[in-house]
Amino acid sequence: MPFSALQRLTVSVSQRIRSACSLLGGKLRDSAGLRAWFYPPVEVETPAEKYRQFNENYFADLHTQERMLADQPRMSFYHEAIERHIQEGDRVIDLGTGTGILAAFASRRGAEKVYAVDHSNIIEHAKQLAAENGIENVDFEDVHSSKLYLDEPVDVIVHEQMGDYLFDEAMMVNVCDLRDRLLKPGGLILPSQFELFCEPMTLHDERRVPYIWELNDVYGFDFSSMERSRPQDLEYYRLVSCDLAVVKHFVSEPAPIMKVDLHTVTESKLPLRVKFTRKVTQAGILDGLVIYMKAKVDDDLVLSSSPLDPGRAPHWGYRILRLDQSYVEVGTELEVTLTADDWSDPDTWEWNCGQWGSE
Ligand SMILES: C[S@@+](CC[C@H](N)C(=O)[O-])C[C@H]1O[C@@H](n2cnc3c(N)ncnc32)[C@H](O)[C@@H]1O
Repeated sequence: MPFSALQRLTVSVSQRIRSACSLLGGKLRDSAGLRAWFYPPVEVETPAEKYRQFNENYFADLHTQERMLADQPRMSFYHEAIERHIQEGDRVIDLGTGTGILAAFASRRGAEKVYAVDHSNIIEHAKQLAAENGIENVDFEDVHSSKLYLDEPVDVIVHEQMGDYLFDEAMMVNVCDLRDRLLKPGGLILPSQFELFCEPMTLHDERRVPYIWELNDVYGFDFSSMERSRPQDLEYYRLVSCDLAVVKHFVSEPAPIMKVDLHTVTESKLPLRVKFTRKVTQAGILDGLVIYMKAKVDDDLVLSSSPLDPGRAPHWGYRILRLDQSYVEVGTELEVTLTADDWSDPDTWEWNCGQWGSE
């Protein structure tokens, strides 16, 4: 083929390819079906979905359920709450039934019907335990609570959805969703009243673990240059413990930084920034802020995870938000700021504690 004919052929082929591509481009632009075929949507897992999967697997573990069943303050709090507040003939949702124990308490108390919901495989054991214990009026629903649909609303929602940081087991979103869809007007949520605490505190000397750069005399060696390597991940700045021998004392009088009643609260009502002051009443090294919670049913029926409460529910951890060590004298004013993008996600919590001198 002469060279000019070859050139003409190449030009014509490339023109055809260009127009085919532009035709395809037009079709892709105009057709949602074709676009989805060429570019299938990428599933983006939200933090809430990730947590849901974690929760589902975590609570399928028998050891996790054992620790809750062995927690005597927790068990007697729920038993008493149900004995006092569920009436004969009530229809009840047990949100997150686990082994089915709260559903069983409600059934024995005289509930007409209990809907026991759980998204984890533990519900298979709950069904069997109910059958073996002669419990007949419990319907087991193996779905996430957001997928629970009933013909009629219920009188009571029972739940145990509290995490170490109170909100980190998605209690607010799960309970409020069921409350708004499936609870009768004036119906009861057990428990409904919660307090969150964030107390400046001192650790026992023998249990204190300083930041590595605070160690300037390890048998004569100085580690303070490690400050250059301060970790950036927030997890490093949070500790967890269930041990009553860790926290020595609060440096000031404790008071809740947030109070929530699940009958009325909405997530959007929670402030995302809490600022509070404390006057030091007991001098000591300020090691950090301890996070714990209280759940209240009646004035004399309270469940606590405070590290200084000998009757605390032992399976909950209390959390320590670490601070650079300093010694605080009686009379020193502390100003603490705690912020979160989302209270249910501790990775979004940030804190600081300023102080100014004693008189
Ligand atoms: C802390 S355990 C409590 C178990 C039981 N109620 C008890 O008191 O022993 C929470 C349970 O709720 C379940 N759960 C958490 N969120 C749920 C949801 N939104 N829907 C259904 N089950 C859920 C978990 O799988 C877990 O078994």
